[in-house]
Amino acid sequence: SPTQPHPHPHGRLLIVSNRLPITVTRDKHTGQYTFVKSSGGLVSALSGLSSNLPFVWIGWPGITVAQNDEATVTNSLLNSHASIPVFLPPETAHAHYNGFSNGILWPLFHYHPNELSFNKEHWDGYLDANRRFAERVAKEWREGDTVWVHDFHLMDVPRVLRALLPGKNVRIGFFLHTPFPSSEVYRILPVRKALLKGVLDSDVIGFQTYDYARHFMSSCARILGLHCFPDGIEVEGRKVRVGTWPIGIDPTKFVKGLQSESIQAHIARLRARFKGTKIMLGIDRLDYIKALPQKIHAFSHLLHTHPSLQSKVVLIQIAVPSREDVLEYQNLDRVVNGLVGKVNGRYGSVEFVPIHYVHKGVGFEELVALYAVADVCVVSSTRDGMNLVSYEYIASQEGQCGVLVLSEFCGAAQSLNGAIIVNPWNTEELAQAMYDALTMPQKQKETSYAKLNRYVHKYTAERWGSSFVNELRSLPSSYNGTQLT
Ligand code: G6P
Repeated sequence: SPTQPHPHPHGRLLIVSNRLPITVTRDKHTGQYTFVKSSGGLVSALSGLSSNLPFVWIGWPGITVAQNDEATVTNSLLNSHASIPVFLPPETAHAHYNGFSNGILWPLFHYHPNELSFNKEHWDGYLDANRRFAERVAKEWREGDTVWVHDFHLMDVPRVLRALLPGKNVRIGFFLHTPFPSSEVYRILPVRKALLKGVLDSDVIGFQTYDYARHFMSSCARILGLHCFPDGIEVEGRKVRVGTWPIGIDPTKFVKGLQSESIQAHIARLRARFKGTKIMLGIDRLDYIKALPQKIHAFSHLLHTHPSLQSKVVLIQIAVPSREDVLEYQNLDRVVNGLVGKVNGRYGSVEFVPIHYVHKGVGFEELVALYAVADVCVVSSTRDGMNLVSYEYIASQEGQCGVLVLSEFCGAAQSLNGAIIVNPWNTEELAQAMYDALTMPQKQKETSYAKLNRYVHKYTAERWGSSFVNELRSLPSSYNGTQLT
């Protein structure tokens, strides 16, 4: 039982994230719950760590669970998946997820302030959800355990957790998977002080890139008047370590996938279907930060300026449905549908469809097959914390040498040397990059790909996870006698 002292001499890692690594669904007719393991980056990053540091995952199950079913769901998650659910009342879940996290913080952190509408009830819901998460963590925590809190949904958890465990040596790490914006943008937020104070109760705060860490420190200096060092911030006599830990993927999963018979069969089907046609691929959640309209405009410009390419190249765009209860996502859906129709109407024919638009999620096998057959992958985000699609594409091109067109506004652009880096706001530049990618000489493709592939195999998710956790566990806890002198 989670309330008994645990038998691990070096403690465990308590991972706290909004989503559990398990998707929980409930059958409407039978009322039965099913639990499906998700294959997200965080899951594979941390599974490598588990051999020497057992972990428990604490998160929101993603659905409303009736009170009578809470015990059953908790038992299944705990016993089979080392996961502990945090149940949220529907109003709290809505205000926290759709309201403050995805309606306010997400647009603000991605430089989309027009999509932001501040609402006090959403902020209250955010605080309430964060308090419930922290309470569950405090209940689970034992001497020696390390806590690692993830992402913008849970920035107040470190503060509440400290308050719930006074005098305890709790080591708390926080990692932001999204960008942290310039202080000039961050300061728009009405609750800017409270949010910074919440996260500053961590011992280590990690970011994907040096720029995000720098923006965070400037915000703390300008908004809270704190003193910053190159590697941290002084907060009430403690030193909070602030640094950069760029995430990666588990590339072997994709390389192994390529060897499977069913994926090879899938690849063969796709090759036959698109014989004689070059394939450009986009895989994105349907989110305004992914800049699908910009990508489609550029593709249209490419076909307009190079008529010889008409009927010789397709854009396969997978748009995974996301956050569909948030108005801005509904608007984007309409805009993208309209644009796809327009380009297909203008440049298509009865025999030829230029844009193959799929508004659905794809399973792992289809995903790897698509990556494998794509001559070019286009990531056009106007902002993106890292963007792991670009890494997955490289890993899945093993044995080939596809070309990656990558927006300069992705965290990945700082590390993926060998990609064609573009400004997605410049339609002509993006169209030119698509053209250059489609016509790149073989030798150049090989050299660029080799550089990219080396990087993706060296800076893996596992390396990211262990270096962050090692730093967190090797630092003396800032709450345990390491006062600045
Ligand atoms: C981004 C965020 C993650 C989030 C994911 C999917 O990558 O950084 O925290 O889980 O998007 O979004 P969703 O709203 O479906 O969890």
